[in-house]
Amino acid sequence: MANNIHPSVKMGEYCVIGDNVTIGEGCVIGHHVVIHNDTAIGDNVRIDDFTCIGKRPMKAANSAVTVESDLPACVIGSGCIIGTGAVIYRGCTLGERVLAADLATVRERVTIGERTIIGRGASVECDCTVGRKCKIETNAYITAYSTLGDMCFIAPGVVTSNDNFAGRSEERFKHFKGVTVKNGGRIAAGSVILPGKVIGEQAMAAAGSVVTKDVPEKTVVVGAPAKVLRAVPEDQLLQEGDYAK
Ligand SMILES: CC(C)(COP(=O)(O)OP(=O)(O)OC[C@H]1O[C@@H](n2cnc3c(N)ncnc32)[C@H](O)[C@@H]1OP(=O)(O)O)[C@@H](O)C(=O)NCCC(=O)NCCS
Repeated sequence: MANNIHPSVKMGEYCVIGDNVTIGEGCVIGHHVVIHNDTAIGDNVRIDDFTCIGKRPMKAANSAVTVESDLPACVIGSGCIIGTGAVIYRGCTLGERVLAADLATVRERVTIGERTIIGRGASVECDCTVGRKCKIETNAYITAYSTLGDMCFIAPGVVTSNDNFAGRSEERFKHFKGVTVKNGGRIAAGSVILPGKVIGEQAMAAAGSVVTKDVPEKTVVVGAPAKVLRAVPEDQLLQEGDYAK
């Protein structure tokens, strides 16, 4: 099928655009960008050099979570900014004004809410839902099957996990579970969150924590294993209106 590329689009050199691709008004596409079949890009989107949009998943012979299936087209909302060398998979939807920094990867069947930031080199694995206005900072790792609410803060180098059996036993296939971060939840630098754990609404895991139990709402936990330190200070709590802004 023919493409639908708005005449105002500025396209760099050596780009490859697949079939049935839509690119809206005012978009600026860098050099060597690949946009795969069926991708729908809104208006005023900036995509920097060497980025790949709508990539099909690769299933390794021994991959536990990659499922081969038909995927809907990749959708990039208006006003998004996608950095150099980023990879956004088919079956992924970025809401309006999402920023995916250089080298970020967003996998298939992922939805990212509007105005969320995916930091440099951060990875959001398959089958995740990320809310609005979240910050997922440099080199953070969001494991498959995770759910983040709105205005969550995931600091640099955070690692989340979904397989308590660490790749061994048939039993593990029944128990894969990503992490849940409720609205306004925060995970500080270099923390590790064990499979299936829930960071409560506006809770915080301190830097370097290993979270082995669910964290109650509005509570700070520290250490390995993480223990309650105190309540989140009042002046750091979001108010209802903050989510809606
Ligand atoms: C949660 C946090 C704010 C607590 O820091 P704090 O308010 O300065 O902590 P306090 O000075 O009240 O420390 C209270 C006790 O907890 C300990 N503690 C504080 N942070 C700790 C941590 N991350 N891990 C283990 N113990 C910690 C302190 O050593 C102190 O112990 P003590 O009473 O035996 O001396 C801090 O650990 C943190 O995670 N900050 C966020 C850093 C970050 O990732 N920022 C975003 C990216 S730049």
